[in-house]
This record gives sequence, C-alpha cells and structure tokens, in this order.
Amino acid sequence: MQTQAGDPGAFRHFDLTRVPSPCFVVDEVAIERNLRILRNVADASGAQVLAALKAFSMFSLAPLVSRYLDGVCASGLYEAQLGREEYGGEVATFCAGYKPQEFDRILGLSDTIIFNSPAQKDRFLPQIRSSGRKISVGLRINPEHSEGEVVKYDPAAPCSRLGFPVSQLRPEMLDGVDGLHMHTLCEQGFEPLDRTWSAIAPRLEPMLARITWFNFGGGHHITRADYDRDGLCTFLRRLKRDTGLHFYLEPGEAVALDAGILVGEVLDLGSNDVNIAIVDISATCHMPDVIEAPYRPALLNEVAQGTTYRLGGPSCLAGDVIGDYTFAKPLTPGDRFAFLDQAHYSMVKTNTFNGVPLPSIALWNSDSDALKIVKSFDYADFKGRLS
Ligand SMILES: Cc1ncc(COP(=O)(O)O)c(C=O)c1O
Repeated sequence: MQTQAGDPGAFRHFDLTRVPSPCFVVDEVAIERNLRILRNVADASGAQVLAALKAFSMFSLAPLVSRYLDGVCASGLYEAQLGREEYGGEVATFCAGYKPQEFDRILGLSDTIIFNSPAQKDRFLPQIRSSGRKISVGLRINPEHSEGEVVKYDPAAPCSRLGFPVSQLRPEMLDGVDGLHMHTLCEQGFEPLDRTWSAIAPRLEPMLARITWFNFGGGHHITRADYDRDGLCTFLRRLKRDTGLHFYLEPGEAVALDAGILVGEVLDLGSNDVNIAIVDISATCHMPDVIEAPYRPALLNEVAQGTTYRLGGPSCLAGDVIGDYTFAKPLTPGDRFAFLDQAHYSMVKTNTFNGVPLPSIALWNSDSDALKIVKSFDYADFKGRLS
C-alpha cells in the first residue's frame, strides 16, 4: 500500500528535466541503503528476508537485491517466473487460489509453495509429491488479531478471505505442511507484530512441533528511521531459541521506501473556484493507490505559502485528481514537478486506461549522479494488452 509522507532524500538536488515525463526515477543508493538495513536485520535476527515482488519488482535492480537478500516472495505464476529468471536465492510463492492449469509451472519455479487453505493444500499435495521436486509446503493462517487501522488493508479483519482462521486450525490439517505463514501488517512498527504473536502463540504452541519454519509476511516498515529493529531482532532470536523454528520476513515497501519519485509535467492551467493544473501524471493510471487507499502523495519541494493548484490527470475520469498542492511560484505549462516515495506500489500498478502512456523508468545513482533510462514505453505497450 502507498500512504507515506515521503522523505525527499537526495532527490532534493535532482534536476527533473533530465528525464522524459512522466518518469519513475529510482535512486539505487537509497535502495542499497534499505537493503543493507534488511541484511543487518537478517544477520542479527537469524531470520531469512525475502523481497516481496508485488511491491517492487524493478528487475534491473535484481542483482543488487540478490546481493543482500535471501530471495523473493511471489504472488503467483508470473512473479515466481520473474523471481526465478532475474533474482537469485529462494522463490517462495503464496497465492490465495492456485489454478490447476498453472500449478505445474509454479511447481517448477518455486522452492516454497504456501497455500491459503488446507483444502487447496490437500488438492495439490499429490502433484507436489509426484513431481519429485523438493518443495517446502506452507499454510497461511489468519491470526484473527487485527492491528490494522484500514479494513481494506487488514487481512485479519472480520470475514477476511486471506489465511485460514487460526480458531479453525486442527493439528491434522498440518499433514504435509512444513511451515506456517501469516501476513497481517501494513506499514507498521515492531510492536504490532509482537502483540500479534502474543495473541496467537497459545493456540499455535501445540502445533509448532509439526513444522520447521514460520513466515511473518510483510508490512514491517523495517527501513523507516523510527522502526525498533533491535526489538525485532531480539524477538526473532528469542522465538528461534524457544521454538527451534526458522523464521522468514517478506518486506516489500521496506526494500524501496523513499527510494523513488514520479516526475510529471504541467500540460494546462485553468480555474473553477480553485486553480486547476492538468498534468501528464494520472492518479488512476500511474498512482492508483491515490484513489484506492486513498492517500495524498507528498510533493517534492512543496511549500506552505504560495499558489495552490488542484493537480489532475489527463484521463476522462472526473475523480482522476491527485490532490491540492502549493507551489512557490505560479505554474506554467511545461513546468516539472515530482511526487515522493513512488518506487513501491506505483510502478507495479500502472495501467493504460484511456490510452494514457506509461511512465518511463530511470535509474539514478545519487552518489555518482549517473542516470540511465532503463525502460520507455510506447503505443505497442498499450495495443499489446488489447485485441
Ligand atoms: C503475503 C504478503 N507478503 C508480503 C507482502 C509485502 O508487504 P509490504 O510491502 O507491506 O511489506 C504482502 C503485501 O500485501 C503480502 O500480501
């Protein structure tokens, strides 16, 4: 999910006219800073850390990610294939529902396959066994303990479809299962994880002897400055000692936190009770979480006093509005601007509704100032999805 305020970091000094518009610009130095923190946590806690591709799958950075992390977690066939093709280490796949037609290929690509229900596990276990592949099998549980504030982003909310309710879990359901998985946090600190474990540990304790690993999913904002990393490492070391299990974390956002911007350009200006700026960034096409979450992305160099504009995209959607932003000087067509913290959950969610072009993708090194456009899109990308 995208909700954070955003820290401009080195982008404060980035010349926005160096890239085409619109364009995601990712700072590899910031990514490496995050990866180093995650590696330190892995080493200090004894846990394995997998990068969640759903949040950030800019695979031109796969060699860098693989240098620090233990592998990737995938949400299904395509991410598993991307993980196997581009990244090193383990591929752990979780999907809320596997399709029989795809399962063989998922089997060939994954080291770990995590099921959302004992029923799916029982359906596919014979295929796993007959494949001859050494697959570790997991079951996702729903702890039925909520720490989330937004129901849409809370897989432990009442009536959730994600994870098997822990209150219904029976020891025999773990036949053929090597590990348990849970994912219930979203942009959270260590304390909600600690409280969640305390809530479910009494129920799980009788079953832990049947498994060898436990995966705490994502949603841990480990690379945020105020995250209690010592608390997390102590907690994981204690659990490892007490249970003898291996532990996994699957951060997504934390890999790319504050490491990328989305550069846009002013196309036209007008007024209708408020100042309006039509821009080449569309909320619905390029930052869908603005509407879905919803949230207001932070603007690079926004000022408290100046001229305020309502920024909206070029699409036909009346609600394709990013928000009201104040600029130091009145805008003119052609002016550049940028939204902060757009590397995660924006690049992976773009679409071409209305034929709106996809943003280019650029890689910047804020230490050396080297800049490379790693991907540009054109009409063929729009047409290729249609028939
Ligand atoms: C199963 C699972 N693992 C990991 C993640 C990554 O979460 P985040 O990007 O919040 O760290 C998610 C996000 O939805 C998820 O569903």
